[in-house]
Order: sequence, then C-alpha cells, then structure tokens
Amino acid sequence: MFPITRMRRTRASPLIRDMIREAVLSPRDLIYPIFVDETITRKREIGSMPGQFRLPPDGVVNEIDELCDLGIPAVLLFGIPETKDAAGTSALDEEGVIQRTIEAIRDALGDRLVIITDVCLCEYTTHGHCGIVEGEKILNDPTLEKIAGMALSHARAGADIVAPSGMMDGMVSSIRGILDENGYQDTLIMSYAAKYASSFYAPFRDAADSSYTFGDRSSYQMDPGNADEAIREVELDILEGADIVMVKPALSYLDLVYRIRSTFGMPTAVYSVSGEYSMVKAAAMQGWIDETKVMYEMHLSMKRAGADMIITYAAKDIARYLEELR
Ligand code: PBG
Repeated sequence: MFPITRMRRTRASPLIRDMIREAVLSPRDLIYPIFVDETITRKREIGSMPGQFRLPPDGVVNEIDELCDLGIPAVLLFGIPETKDAAGTSALDEEGVIQRTIEAIRDALGDRLVIITDVCLCEYTTHGHCGIVEGEKILNDPTLEKIAGMALSHARAGADIVAPSGMMDGMVSSIRGILDENGYQDTLIMSYAAKYASSFYAPFRDAADSSYTFGDRSSYQMDPGNADEAIREVELDILEGADIVMVKPALSYLDLVYRIRSTFGMPTAVYSVSGEYSMVKAAAMQGWIDETKVMYEMHLSMKRAGADMIITYAAKDIARYLEELR
C-alpha cells in the first residue's frame, strides 16, 4: 500500500516503461492485405481508403518487395476479376487473377513472404454475395464445393495459407478435405471463424468491387450482439481443422479476441478492417488526431487483447513507426 507501493515509480523513465510493457507490437505480427485488379494496367488509389491501392497483377511484386525489408512476413490477397457471373466461376480459374499473382510472387520472392489468400466468392459473383444464390437466399451446401475448388486452385498455385471468409457452415472441413485428397496437407487454413455482419466493411466493398445487389450479409455473417455464438463458431472451425482462427472486425470485438485466445489457446488472428482504417485516416486528414500514434495504440490494444497476428492496411506505416521508435 501507499506510500511503500508507488505505481508511478515504473512510469518515470522511458526505458523502464519499455522494460515493463506487457504487450509488444512487432512488424512480424502484421499481415498486409493487397487488392489485385485484373481490369487495370496501372496502380490506382482506392477513394474510400486513402493510401491503399488496387494493383494490376504484374505490378504486385514491385509493391511487396518493400514488405520484406520492413520485416512484414505475410500478405493477404484479394482478387478483382475481369469477368463475373452468378456462380463466381472465375474464382476457380487456374489462370485467374489470384492464381497468376501467387505464381508471380513465388517466382520473384521464393519463401521470403507468406502468401495468404482470401477464399470467398463475393468479388467474383455478379450479385456480390459470398455464395450461390437462389432467389434471395444464399445457399450453404452448394457453395461449399465452389469454395473448396477455389482453395485448391490457390494451393496449387503456391499459396501457403488459404483463408475462407464466407461464413458458410462446413467450409473449413470441405477445404481440409479437398486439400488433403490432393496432397496439400501442409497448406494451412486460417478461418474467418468469428466474422460479424459489420458496417465497418463499407470502404472494402468499394475497394474490392464486392457490393451486393440485394439484401445484406446478415443471414451468414454474425450478429454484432452475440459473443457466446462466436465461441461456438470458433470451436467448430477448430474441430473441422482450422490452423488459425480469426476475429473480424477488430476494435469493436476485442472482447472476443480475449475470450477466444484464452479459451482455445489457438493461434488467433484479428482483422482490423477497412472502416477502422478509413476512420483514422479521415480524422487525421482533418488534423483532429495524430494518425501514426492512434494507429500504433489501436494495434497495440489488439496485441494486449491476445491477438497473435493482425491483418491491417496500416501494416507498412506501423512497421516504419516501430523502426523509428527503436
Ligand atoms: C469478403 C470479405 C469482406 C472483407 C474481407 N473479406 C467483405 C464482406 O464480408 O462484406 C472485409 C474487409 C475489410 O473491410 O477490410 N467476404
């Protein structure tokens, strides 16, 4: 008790503050999302996400060289295809936008970068939903075969980790099954296990050209009011063979990061989504907050909640800031 105990003693010097800090952020914790657009020939800034770009397939390698120098270990690839249809056929094309991009990265960088791919139909379907549609219903079981085929084509092209994000029941076991049958038992699955129907995704839909033409995603993504349900979702995905489980979005869902990490002790990822990034950017552009410091604090809080890895559009900025701090 006071005066013997004084909490401020450990706060008095910057070096001691560094020594006692419990959560530490490192570039090695970060995963950088990239949008590869088959319909463009030069990189184009995404209006709703200042500082983020759509890249043409042959422009990707140039951009990600830098990630290795910054110590960022992984990218998460999203594709914008030339052609879309109701069934999302181009998602499975062996010569598709993501399949070609994976090969190009692997050729240029070998094993210096972990390649993760988003496995979901919404960028490839004309209606923009994450599954096969009948009327206004998003069908679960017919979608599984598509998702599994897409994941296999990514593994064949050389992806290290496939990340199904469609919130279809059984998606992890379908993918694990087809990968194992085809000799890809070493390809990891990072499951978007607790993915919420969130309004924080709005800037992404502009970035990835994946807006839906009717309804919304609340018949497959989770209700923001539910937490116990997320524990069940994660448990099922682990039983189906997920190697890494994810919570998405990040900031409003850190209670789940904490619970999931402490309940299962599994590698846990968190996705700091487009809306979180763009809110900070917008406020910083008004001069209301210090962008770099707010980004750092946000991501540190994700580590403090228990995340092992963070998917974030701010990956490069944070890695540079961490270098500065050293
Ligand atoms: C596709 C997908 C989405 C995001 C990642 N994968 C959009 C959605 O579910 O509507 C959102 C990412 C972000 O907002 O940064 N299923």
